Amino acid sequence: MVDLAPATTKRLIESARRARANAYAPYSRYLVGAAVLSADGRVFVGCNVENSSYGLSMCAERNAIAAAVVAGTTPVAVAVVTEAPPAGPCGACRQVLAEFPTLTTVVSAAPSGPDYTLASVHELLPHAFRLDAKES
Ligand code: THU
Repeated sequence: MVDLAPATTKRLIESARRARANAYAPYSRYLVGAAVLSADGRVFVGCNVENSSYGLSMCAERNAIAAAVVAGTTPVAVAVVTEAPPAGPCGACRQVLAEFPTLTTVVSAAPSGPDYTLASVHELLPHAFRLDAKES
């Protein structure tokens, strides 16, 4: 796991909280915000975007990862903010996070308060699928 400075963790959580305010979740009413920290210190955000064809809904984490990738940056950590109690990324998002070996740290937090939890992507998804079937 990358060693996140407390100020960086706080900044990442605040970014995810702001992104969560824009979540488009009229069906589940479950708002999620995510913020990806890149190796160069930039932050890319995403929120969940639902669709009336439910299966087309997109998670906050994957939207944030997409924004970081579009910018050509290297993701190193992600913060996820859900309603309390904070939830970790869903299984699909764990697989997407595991795609990027540089991305090691997952921060989970609630919409307010100073508390957060840290987990590694490997902890959240041991034995992630890889095309080269390399043990991870
Ligand atoms: N959701 C996320 O954005 N991230 C997750 O990791 C789990 C779930 C969204 C999808 C849907 O819009 C809502 O939360 C309820 O499942």
